[in-house]
Amino acid sequence: MYPVWSLAATALGWSTAVMGREAAMACTEAVETEIGGHYNGQVRVLLEMIENMEKAGEEVGEDLRELVDTIRRIRDEELEHLDHAVENDAQKAVPHELLTGIIRAGCRGAIWISERV
Ligand SMILES: [Fe+2]
Repeated sequence: MYPVWSLAATALGWSTAVMGREAAMACTEAVETEIGGHYNGQVRVLLEMIENMEKAGEEVGEDLRELVDTIRRIRDEELEHLDHAVENDAQKAVPHELLTGIIRAGCRGAIWISERV
């Protein structure tokens, strides 16, 4: 799916940039909000898996703990991008709610498809 998402991301970036700086920042805000939530979901699942393994007396490999740390680090980086967008007038985009709502729905759709393909 990577080529499709890459093309879609480029089209989204260009089209919001054409709308102006605030719209481009609103695009970043929307995308990073969904990505941050997605990473949080992955961390929750992995922590639950680790907890269940520990309860069952199974050894939790260092690679699994490193994976959780890596996802947390990447999530935090993406949430910094979200903060940057909000600090740079993302919410002044017109129409902010419509724009971010459509982009967020598109991101959720892309995540949904990627989880199944
Ligand atoms: Fe980012």
